[in-house]
Amino acid sequence: SKRIPLVAGNWKMNFDHLEATYFVQKLAWLLRDAHFDFRRVEVALFPSFTSLRSVQVLVEADKLKINYGAQSVSVTNQGAFTGDISADMIAHLGCSYVIIGHSERRKYHPEDDANIVDQVRAVLAAGMQPILCVGESFEERRQGIELDFAVGQVHDVTRDLNEEEAAKLIIAYEPVWAIGTGMVATPESAQDAAQAIRADMKATFGADVADAVRILYGGSVTSKNAVELIEEPDVDGFLIGGASLDADELARICRLT
Ligand code: G3H
Repeated sequence: SKRIPLVAGNWKMNFDHLEATYFVQKLAWLLRDAHFDFRRVEVALFPSFTSLRSVQVLVEADKLKINYGAQSVSVTNQGAFTGDISADMIAHLGCSYVIIGHSERRKYHPEDDANIVDQVRAVLAAGMQPILCVGESFEERRQGIELDFAVGQVHDVTRDLNEEEAAKLIIAYEPVWAIGTGMVATPESAQDAAQAIRADMKATFGADVADAVRILYGGSVTSKNAVELIEEPDVDGFLIGGASLDADELARICRLT
């Protein structure tokens, strides 16, 4: 496909700013050593807010081709919202992306569909790209409604967007039962979900938008299963948690993608 695969490392709540800086240096060194082609595969890291400035300084000083982004965002521009971080603040740190609606955010924070749409709008308005996370829990899979569920989560957001906005979305299909469990989805089921999501986007926005949008798979991705997953036509990369905490392993996945 014409879509450039994206390998996205979601560090979740790991690494302080010193560890983050050390990691980025090590990853850059490993990829350089392997003559990694950043035009073939895009690499992005998602550190904690407290590390973003350090990562920015390093990336700019060493002219690294590694992109980065934030793990969540406030829906508001500014004001009396203690503890929140605005999209502009994130954009001004050189971030390209913001992860939105990760299942851990949906679980531990009051992020409903309306709030998630507002986050998407805030990220787009600040000139960044949202990585919208969707995916069924074990219960929906048991009932056999996983595709409808994931497509529905995407549709809940896209029905409020216009074509231009939708084209900037990145979708991460992450079945909740696969996150951090070692139970990776089969390539077939990752493909089924990505294909269903793309078909829904095609029905809403047309083929140009549907063909441009990257759909990532997430949930227990490692260097052992990355190859068979990326071979699927509608899987355009990965959102990686656990395996993104080891620079050698992440570099391996980048090379295999
Ligand atoms: O954002 C990443 C996903 O939650 C996947 O996490 O690779 O540790 O299963 P995991």
